[in-house]
Amino acid sequence: MNPEDFRRFGHRLVDLVADYRAGIEARPVASSASPGSIRAQLPMDPPEEPEDFERVLADLERLVVPNLTHWQHPRFFGYFPSNGELAAVLGDCASTGLGVLGLAWASSPPLTEIEEVTTDWLRRMSGLSEAWSGVIQDTASTSTLVALLCAREQASGFSLARGGLQGEDKALVVYTSEHAHSSVDKAVLMAGFGRANCRKIPVDPDYALRADALESAIRADRAAGRVPCAIVATTGTTTTTALDPVDACARIAREHHLWLHVDAAMAGSAMILPECRSLWPGVEGADSIVVNPHKWLGASFDCSVYFVRDPEQLVRVMSTSPSYLQTAADGQVRNYRDWGIPLGRRFRALKLWFLIREQGLSGLRKRLRRDLANARWLAEEVRREPDWRVLAPVPLQTVCVRHEPPGLAGDALDGHTLRWVDAVNRSGVAYLTPAILDGRWMARVSIGALPTEREHVAQAWAAMRAATAHSTA
Ligand SMILES: Cc1ncc(COP(=O)(O)O)c(C=O)c1O
Repeated sequence: MNPEDFRRFGHRLVDLVADYRAGIEARPVASSASPGSIRAQLPMDPPEEPEDFERVLADLERLVVPNLTHWQHPRFFGYFPSNGELAAVLGDCASTGLGVLGLAWASSPPLTEIEEVTTDWLRRMSGLSEAWSGVIQDTASTSTLVALLCAREQASGFSLARGGLQGEDKALVVYTSEHAHSSVDKAVLMAGFGRANCRKIPVDPDYALRADALESAIRADRAAGRVPCAIVATTGTTTTTALDPVDACARIAREHHLWLHVDAAMAGSAMILPECRSLWPGVEGADSIVVNPHKWLGASFDCSVYFVRDPEQLVRVMSTSPSYLQTAADGQVRNYRDWGIPLGRRFRALKLWFLIREQGLSGLRKRLRRDLANARWLAEEVRREPDWRVLAPVPLQTVCVRHEPPGLAGDALDGHTLRWVDAVNRSGVAYLTPAILDGRWMARVSIGALPTEREHVAQAWAAMRAATAHSTA
């Protein structure tokens, strides 16, 4: 494709995306595609000859768009929001279009320096002290893996320079809440700790990690000859947005010489609101934090910011310096390849830069406050309705609910819940993702897509009540 064709088709694509966003509310939220139905419409063999790009765009409109589950829809209440503000989408286009890689500072100086500035903006926006330095990773899963690799090396006195974990005679142990995200389990496994060395600490009635149980588990491991290594605390768990006591975890980490990583993948965005910062008390006592601007904040996926207190330790764990990557500027600049796992880095900072500049802190704060108010409103509505329960505190934008009609319990209640949630999703009116809490299914209503206003939450709530009426009928 030459630049003139790119201009022509690029304008068409921008129109397509703009029309898609402008008209998204008219679409059913969830995809009704059946498994394999899209693949069945694609040829098995790749085209031997170049195709007219018109046909490619036509297939995008015909095959892809109508079969999507629409995450940017105002009545998308599934998972957690993954907002792509259109300014951030343009940042992503610019990143891909410019096509530069950050292998070293010298391989694309603005890539590094805009990342330094934008991650520092996010730090300032979130009220974090100057002790923190940021780097953009792809996802929170990667950020948490990086944290556990650093924790492992700290606790083992840099075993990677010797025989690695295989050369250690004492097992290193990681502690996290039983409500931690599955990415923590995965990072524990990928970093070589082994499942047997991951302690799932029980939670209190608000689903927050119990500090007393954490301390007991650490003492028991130490008494048994194991080496307590890291605590992963969550600010805003995935199931209920519960808040682990970061201050108590920091105290315990300090006393017992453990690494503290705070997973604020979702709730970290809320820290741009001063009134929310009490949700992670004592966060300055952590060693690392992950915040995903690609969730609620609006930086289109993927954009996960890893904040670290001691970048030198991070670089010591991650750095490689083969001759072909060395440059005259080394020593005066950040080489972000040494701050994470991949060598090649995209210009992800552009989308964060575009987002923050186009929205301003005031625009971002206004939207997040709108979502918090909508969640409080929904929780009140649910509490007022007979046979409905709000199952967990609502510190953020997710409301966990269950419809509990008299006489239904156990598996029958589970069946009822899954049926009515499915009915809501199939209706196309709203999209919810159910989850298990205390051994029973419930529905999470995760508010915070970009265009979600009070009326959309009210429409979802009406659809939920209508679906339960049919399910029990
Ligand atoms: C609390 C928490 N941590 C981590 C993750 C994983 O995020 P990512 O998809 O960026 O790896 C999620 C995803 O929803 C999450 O809710």
